[in-house]
Amino acid sequence: MEMTHAKAAHAKSAFASNLPFPPQYGSELLVICRGRGVWLEDKSGKKYLDFAGGIAVNALGYGRADLAKTAMKQMRRLSHISNLFTTEPALALARAMLAQGPFKFSSVFFGNSGTEANEAALKYARLHSLRTKGPGHEKFLCFSGAFHGRTLGSLSCTPSPKYQDPYLPLIPGVVVATYNDPRALARTLTEEFAGVIVEVIQGEGGLAGMTPEFARALNEACARTGAILIADEVQTGMARTGTFYASEGAGLKPDIITLAKPLGGGLPLSAVLIPEKVNALIHLGDHGTTFGGGPVTTAVAGKVWEKVSRPEFVQHVREMGILLEQRLQRIKAAHPEKVGELRGKGLLRGFEYVGGEVKDFLDNLRTRGMLALRSGANVVRIAPPLIITGREIETGINLIEEALR
Ligand SMILES: Cc1ncc(COP(=O)(O)O)c(C=O)c1O
Repeated sequence: MEMTHAKAAHAKSAFASNLPFPPQYGSELLVICRGRGVWLEDKSGKKYLDFAGGIAVNALGYGRADLAKTAMKQMRRLSHISNLFTTEPALALARAMLAQGPFKFSSVFFGNSGTEANEAALKYARLHSLRTKGPGHEKFLCFSGAFHGRTLGSLSCTPSPKYQDPYLPLIPGVVVATYNDPRALARTLTEEFAGVIVEVIQGEGGLAGMTPEFARALNEACARTGAILIADEVQTGMARTGTFYASEGAGLKPDIITLAKPLGGGLPLSAVLIPEKVNALIHLGDHGTTFGGGPVTTAVAGKVWEKVSRPEFVQHVREMGILLEQRLQRIKAAHPEKVGELRGKGLLRGFEYVGGEVKDFLDNLRTRGMLALRSGANVVRIAPPLIITGREIETGINLIEEALR
């Protein structure tokens, strides 16, 4: 479909250039103004079906009056108080999180972003090894294809030259092993390691998924060496993959789970779920943050948690995930020259795009009124709001088919 002159000018006007930001995000960005459900609208009034979900953040969709009301009420009552105090919303959220099965945790540390949660988890693993085994056990193990964030600790466990090279040297003592290779894991992990950090589905790493054999090997190797097993569920946690934690689906038994993206309903909030064996070793002043776990973000997150943790909500994600998989299989069969391997689980899915550059394909989708994401070098990633309906999935699949044709 050729764009008319008027349409092209219209679309162009929705972009901002001469950006007052560092060039890391690009030189020209689409200005999104509002959203409702799974739909977004840009500055020119053009609508987009959102299969990107703010990069797996907006689980409950856009334009939520319930979340806005909660935030406003809490803003008027108490917007911030330091961590020398606590608040009812923070207490209620942490208690709800600890009551959630199937894993057992003793406390919750609230931060503001995924990288901060991982940073804290790595620190707690070090603290645990130092206070139980003494010095000489401070190494970290991470895996090829991983993405754990941009602060120096998390970045050190994100073995991608593109992200790491401008910031060398990174923290010492980080070892990288091949993802999904139980033998490499057994060879590498020793008692010198404080912790292992791993994703169950590599959200930024081409949606590679953990095999049950690798999950078993991780459980065994960490139990054998005493290393703290950290599951980074920043992208996969809170029902995204069709189980509340992706670890459950994979058979992984983590000591620590980190959560972020969907937790705050679009507000910045992350969490580290801490087991008793670590919690018992933490002393006053060992870690902290100014804003993490403030009353407004935790009040909104309390509402998000209540909805997302319902069995019927998780079941909905599972059903929508199956529908999405079936439709992607159909697309793959119809376009084998463009669609390669299908990846992912639940509503975190994608396909290898072998028909050219993923960026061009995503631009093509965008002009047709749909947003999706890239993962790794050549995977088109789909991570819509979890409230998406079957009809909205069909609409998205039709747009993907049009773009492929
Ligand atoms: C698995 C995973 N861990 C950590 C992060 C970092 O989160 P944030 O950008 O909130 O720091 C991300 C972000 O994409 C992620 O996908």
